[in-house]
Formats: sequence, structure tokens, C-alpha cells
Amino acid sequence: MIIAIDGPAASGKSTVARALAKRLGAGYLDTGAMYRAIAAEALMRGVPLDDADALARLAGSARIAIEREAGSSLPSRVLLDGRDVTGEIRTPEVDTAVSPVSAVPGVRAAMVRVQREIGATGDWVVEGRDIGTVVFPDAAVKVFLTASADERARRRVVDMARLGASVDVDEMRRRIETRDQYDSSRTASPLRPADDAVGLDTTGMTIEHVVDALAAMAERR
Ligand code: DC
Repeated sequence: MIIAIDGPAASGKSTVARALAKRLGAGYLDTGAMYRAIAAEALMRGVPLDDADALARLAGSARIAIEREAGSSLPSRVLLDGRDVTGEIRTPEVDTAVSPVSAVPGVRAAMVRVQREIGATGDWVVEGRDIGTVVFPDAAVKVFLTASADERARRRVVDMARLGASVDVDEMRRRIETRDQYDSSRTASPLRPADDAVGLDTTGMTIEHVVDALAAMAERR
């Protein structure tokens, strides 16, 4: 069974998807981490972000693996061609580069191929932007999470503080809104809810509350 969780930046997808996967005993796949890994590699190799062919070649040949850390039940370490890029993919530079990289059709085709191979292996909670619309249109449960821009900015600032980075909330809200605008207006698989997705505004909801709602949907399937 596939549970597809889509939504804009910092809408709570990762936290909710991880908790839900744990509760259901399913796998957890963070597709944003895959696009981030390609963006980080492009920056490292100096591939111009407007060179669609070079980006597609890079995505087509990259081996991305998402592995468990010792003692953890869910995967969180991201490897690209064997190199650990877990920290690198969460930098402000990658935040900025990932939208143009993920807008390239050839990059998307390579990532979607891998995502479908992984999904075919069992029960997965998959989070991203196009999971319910493109990657798994037959997913058993499709959810589109949203939250107000202010709340999303506040949540992301707290996440970054945990990683040791200090960012102003207004600056973070501007970055998030710019990325959403880019992701929603691209031609290739833009961010949008699937017609049959259940929309959930998580502003003011606790994680537990959201996970309860999604687990109930999964159990009804
Ligand atoms: O979920 P995230 O913020 O880590 O995702 C990073 C970027 O990757 C996001 O700005 C758009 C892109 N992305 C995408 O285009 N399709 C997906 N399925 C997941 C992420």
C-alpha cells in the first residue's frame, strides 16, 4: 500500500510521514531528499543550474540510497554514489538550487523511475510534491498538507536552529514562498493536490493529531 503525502515546503510532511510510517510499520521515502541530493551534487561539480541536459545526465547516472542509522527504525542518511550528503542537502544554497534542478523533466524522469521501483517493494509512506498526481496516481491514501506561511516559517526556523543555524522568520517566510511559487508554476509535475487527495490544513494542529487522522484513513483502506 502506498500513502502519498504532498504539500508545499515546511507543511509538516516529513514529521508526519515519518511518524505515520513508524506507526503503520511501513517504509518512509522522502523524495525531496532525492532532488536535494542531485542539487547538492550539481553545486559541488559546478554544473550550471540552467543546463538541463547536464542536470538530466547527472540525475540519470547518480546512485541515490537512503539508509537507516544504527539504532533508528527509519532511514535518514542520504548517500549519493556512496558519499554521505545528509548534512549538505539542508543548506540554504541547496534550498535555492533545488527548485530549478527539480523543474528539469529529465531529472524528474530519473527520480520517478527510482521512486516507483522502491514503492513496488511493499508498504510505503511517500512524501513529496507530485506523489499523488504523477508518481503513484493509484495510491491507497492521498493527502495534501498545508499550513499558513507564518506557521511554516516558524517551524522551519526551529528545525534549522536544531541544526545549529539561525535564520530570521521573515527571511525564512520569503524563502519558503519563493520556493512554493517556483514549484507550483513549473511545467513539469507542478505542486498541486491530486483531484482525489484529502486536503488537511495543519495550522495549529499537533503532529499527533495529524498522524491520528492519516492513520485512520489508512486503516479504512
Ligand atoms: O520536501 P523538500 O522541501 O525537501 O523538497 C525539496 C524540493 O524538491 C522542493 O522545493 C521541490 C522538489 N521536489 C519535487 O519537485 N518533487 C518531489 N516529489 C519532492 C520534492
